[in-house]
Amino acid sequence: MSVLAAACGAPGRCYRQNMMNANEIVGFGNRKTPFYLYDMRLLSRTLDEIVRLSSDYGIEVHYAVKANANVPVLRRISSKGLGADCVSGNEILFALENGFPAGKTVFSGVGKTDREIELAISKGVFSINCESLPEIRVVNEIASGMGKKANVSVRINPDIDAHTHKYITTGLEENKFGISRYEFEELVKTLGECESIDFNGLHFHIGSQITDVADVFALECRRAAEIVSWFESKGLEIRNINLGGGLGIDYEEPQKHPVPDFAAWMRTIARTLPRKEGVRVHIEPGRSVVAQCGILCTRVLYVKEGQKKTFLITDAGMNDLIRPALYGAYHKIRNITAEAENRSGEKVYDVVGPVCESSDVWGEDRTLPASRRGDLLAICSAGAYGQVMASRYNLRDLAEAEYID
Ligand SMILES: Cc1ncc(COP(=O)(O)O)c(C=O)c1O
Repeated sequence: MSVLAAACGAPGRCYRQNMMNANEIVGFGNRKTPFYLYDMRLLSRTLDEIVRLSSDYGIEVHYAVKANANVPVLRRISSKGLGADCVSGNEILFALENGFPAGKTVFSGVGKTDREIELAISKGVFSINCESLPEIRVVNEIASGMGKKANVSVRINPDIDAHTHKYITTGLEENKFGISRYEFEELVKTLGECESIDFNGLHFHIGSQITDVADVFALECRRAAEIVSWFESKGLEIRNINLGGGLGIDYEEPQKHPVPDFAAWMRTIARTLPRKEGVRVHIEPGRSVVAQCGILCTRVLYVKEGQKKTFLITDAGMNDLIRPALYGAYHKIRNITAEAENRSGEKVYDVVGPVCESSDVWGEDRTLPASRRGDLLAICSAGAYGQVMASRYNLRDLAEAEYID
């Protein structure tokens, strides 16, 4: 694939002209900062790409609501026909309120409460993805008490290293997620005993921000195929295979890669996962759908000259976007005012937030245009695990959202 095609997400398609440019962002400059700004055009184009590929490859897509539960964002996603992947009762209710059908909603999570299980059964979600043997028994009991059958998939821990940050890898045997190989015999027995469960398939999810797409997802598919065959040899019918989410995005150069490489992901699945007639394959992307569509806009409050470093102190902090403080995550920073003014000259800064924690740092030793008090900065790729994880720590206001459509 040519560099341009790779940058644009697919051969012959170029989305770069649809990324937010500095003048558009500056147009929001009189808003109270910090604020999130969502490019709904890019979201639509990302979704169109997903819908086209999912139809070509016959893969059903459930958006992981945890990545961003902003109402216009959710509505745009549901309007394109995607299903939802939820991890709490409130996410299920919110997804249904915002246009996702129960029949396309899956429910995961290691610690579902009885009330959440009851809710999922009463709403008739497509699948409750059970993560442990005790959970399967509890779902069975609750469904039986309700006089209903619960649709259940079982999350398997495939023991795969996703080559990602240790806090977002989930498919290793020592993780808390899913059922491990040593429990498989017991699982078959348990499913046989649970009369109020309609077992409908297997679920896998190995981690997030996976950039080694072809290798890691191919390994997941091969492991899934092997596990599916094992369960079939024990007489279980596997009607659905859910491979989870995890497609990574380009945090370093978001403008070059605004649409993540869904084609490589789905092609890898189609080539590597053998599929019997009638078996449905599902994925649950979160980050890759929304991350590049959002930026966090913040103003420079002070330019503080130290003896060795110069600090840009912003009015957005780790309470607005916790990823850098939590995982040491990298987000590209742009000085939007300087870009709009074509300002010349560059300088190296440590860009830091105002919160009373030393981890409240956006980036160290960042080369940016010479910056001034009042400049508008964009923390890029903030559409996923950003606004949804914001808090009022230090009793700071929550950043509001604006949209370009
Ligand atoms: C079960 C499950 N599915 C999907 C996702 C979404 O992952 P991502 O945002 O990396 O696509 C997650 C994220 O943690 C998850 O736990």
